Amino acid sequence: MKFFVDTAEVSEIRTLAEAGLVDGVTTNPSLIAKSGRKMAEVIAEICAITPGPVSAEVTATDFETMLAEGRYLRGIAGNVAVKVPLTEAGLRTCRALANEGTPVNVTLCFSAAQALLAAKAGAAFISPFVGRLDDISTDGMGLIADIVQIYRNYPHLKTEVLVASVRHPMHLVQAAKLGAHVATLPPAVIRQLLKHPLTDSGLSAFLADWKKTGQSIL
Ligand code: G3P
Repeated sequence: MKFFVDTAEVSEIRTLAEAGLVDGVTTNPSLIAKSGRKMAEVIAEICAITPGPVSAEVTATDFETMLAEGRYLRGIAGNVAVKVPLTEAGLRTCRALANEGTPVNVTLCFSAAQALLAAKAGAAFISPFVGRLDDISTDGMGLIADIVQIYRNYPHLKTEVLVASVRHPMHLVQAAKLGAHVATLPPAVIRQLLKHPLTDSGLSAFLADWKKTGQSIL
């Protein structure tokens, strides 16, 4: 499973990339706003330190302007994936950009029907928002199961399921068990994945016993 980091904070991305935990990055207008930086600058900086796809989202709502914005964003760096919302104009933009060889991440997906449309429009990634469905007492991971099943029925569809709006480690584990291709994770969730109390207590016990030997390795 590929891990994307869901942030526009360059320092976070750099730290996690040094641990080999970054296969790509996703941003959205809210994350760009939170960074306090100009979009083109921060996307260029993220692309320079990220080996994989970096999603940069258009902000227009009409096809013509979305397409122009998408082409501009793609021009920032060779690993930009253009993010478009799952609307009719967004799918038209997806098809046009895909036909030009630009990878597109179709976002704000909340149903299996929407995910099938995005795949038919040539999306490289589909981003179902599991946390936001859970927030309204709807089974977010059930949507992932449906999309994975549907895509498997049609091997010619090349769209990768990119699980987004991940709130906690169990979202990641369940997505991996279902066979989702990618999960995009806030840095805080990645750090939660690391934690287990038995690891901490086991390490403390090892070091306490080692201290009794009076030895040192170096
Ligand atoms: O990539 C989409 C993600 O940033 C949305 O997460 O927590 O705002 O639902 P959230």
